Amino acid sequence: MGFNDEINRRRTFAIISHPDAGKTTLTEKLLLFGGAIHVAGAVKSNKIKKTATSDFMEIEKQRGISVATSVMGFEYNGCKVNILDTPGHQDFAEDTFRTLTAVDSVIIVVDSAKGVEAQTRKLMEVCRMRHTPVIVFINKLDRPSKDPFELLDEVEEELKIKVRPLSWPINNGPNFKGVYNLFDESLYLFEPSKQSLEEGIAIKNVNDPKVDKLIGESFASDLRGELELVEGVYPEFDKQTYLDATVAPVFFGSALNNFGVRELLNCFLHIAPSPLPSQADERIINPYEEKFSGFVFKIHANMDPNHRNRLAFVKVCSGKFERNTNYLHVRHGKNMKFSSPTAFMADKKSIIDEAYPGDIVGIPDSGNFKIGDTLTEGEKFHFKGLPSFSPELFRYIENDDPMKSKQLAKGIDQLMDEGVAQLFVSQLNGRKVIGTVGALQFEVIQYRLLHEYGAKCRYEPINLYKACWLESSDAKQLDDFKQRKLQYMAKDKFGRDVFMADSSYMLQMAQDNFSKIKFHFTSEF
Ligand code: G4P
Repeated sequence: MGFNDEINRRRTFAIISHPDAGKTTLTEKLLLFGGAIHVAGAVKSNKIKKTATSDFMEIEKQRGISVATSVMGFEYNGCKVNILDTPGHQDFAEDTFRTLTAVDSVIIVVDSAKGVEAQTRKLMEVCRMRHTPVIVFINKLDRPSKDPFELLDEVEEELKIKVRPLSWPINNGPNFKGVYNLFDESLYLFEPSKQSLEEGIAIKNVNDPKVDKLIGESFASDLRGELELVEGVYPEFDKQTYLDATVAPVFFGSALNNFGVRELLNCFLHIAPSPLPSQADERIINPYEEKFSGFVFKIHANMDPNHRNRLAFVKVCSGKFERNTNYLHVRHGKNMKFSSPTAFMADKKSIIDEAYPGDIVGIPDSGNFKIGDTLTEGEKFHFKGLPSFSPELFRYIENDDPMKSKQLAKGIDQLMDEGVAQLFVSQLNGRKVIGTVGALQFEVIQYRLLHEYGAKCRYEPINLYKACWLESSDAKQLDDFKQRKLQYMAKDKFGRDVFMADSSYMLQMAQDNFSKIKFHFTSEF
């Protein structure tokens, strides 16, 4: 197969959802279809279990195990499908944000009873920022659900994207009869308890009396009425609007019952983009370029504390990646070659000789990589990563064992490279502040520093509201501000100035008094 064909047949995407909406179940069913696993439960057993929320060690252990399912590749209908897993625990939302930098499209799972939930909204913001095409799968129709029109309105409003249903549910809960697939014009009947993998019944016209026979006159008449409304309200499906990320096609189904999943997969493979161009600071890199380039979007620590090895996940952006070939690590300015790059096929990890754009390569690393690092065949460009977002929680981190200050500094440095949390260093006194999305991460950091680096730390409270990155066209006012607010100024890990506001009131005052300064909650604006 030619190089271009290899690229064209790749689909690299992530499934995202609020915890419990059914992401794991859907992933598993997709893998079953792909023949990548043969029994249900294989993915589930690697999932971060929600019951363990208070037991962070358990969660860390499970995160370690989940390295095997971080990327799940499989072959289906001539396509090479790469599903990038995202952590199920909301405290690790940042890991998910970063994974979204490595995908070409996204499937969002929404619980049909709960509708759009908080974490989905947040993740969608990242998709919007990157213009990632999304498909929505509304799950759990076998349970009493919200009205489908209401759900679609909610998706439009909450996720700020236009929708176009490509399938339509026939009732829900105990009366769930099935879905009418508008994409391939077929009726699929739902039979509870039957985990069917069957084809639908092709019905080109819903007015066909066959429909009445199959689902009963009353449901058939409801369906006709609703489909008429659908066609009246929503514009015809146009693949380009999906690829432009302005319209999200919507499917209804029940992942647990394997219902609506095959249709989703078939349509997805048909319309989802193959690897897209990637933006570097210097230029846009086209996947079809001959020379290899890629970037690190995730670093996974080895869970064996005796071997501080890590696995860097590299997304191939252009050209062909080859084993034992010299590549330039742009930030270090040095050449490196990799003797045991791994690929991920379902639950197996194996050493590979080559990889194509869209693929994810795992590279064993002893500390050379940071998230966002670029590898090329020699050209010096830097892939644009994701901006930093202001953390929600902050604490001072202090050394608790004077003999181990070096270990602590190294540990903090490496954990920040992995993107476990953000570090801010006070410009007034050099004290270090750790910022996280969830409280659990503080415990994880403390535990890992001790077990992997032999360093003991303690936290001290600090009352902070937000970290704000600054922008101003008035250099003098900015300087003046920085001097006056020195005790609230810090540097982030890239050396950028950050204003650590301790309350929304203080931030408002700063904004009022320094009108030529803009305060941003993200590092890029
Ligand atoms: P997540 O990864 O998004 O967190 O969700 P997950 O797939 O684990 O699903 C959360 C719960 O919802 C699971 O039940 C799962 O079985 C159930 N579920 C998923 N899809 C459907 C569906 O289509 N219909 C119904 N009725 N339930 C569904 P659980 O009891 O929390 O876990 P488990 O004991 O089944 O493992």
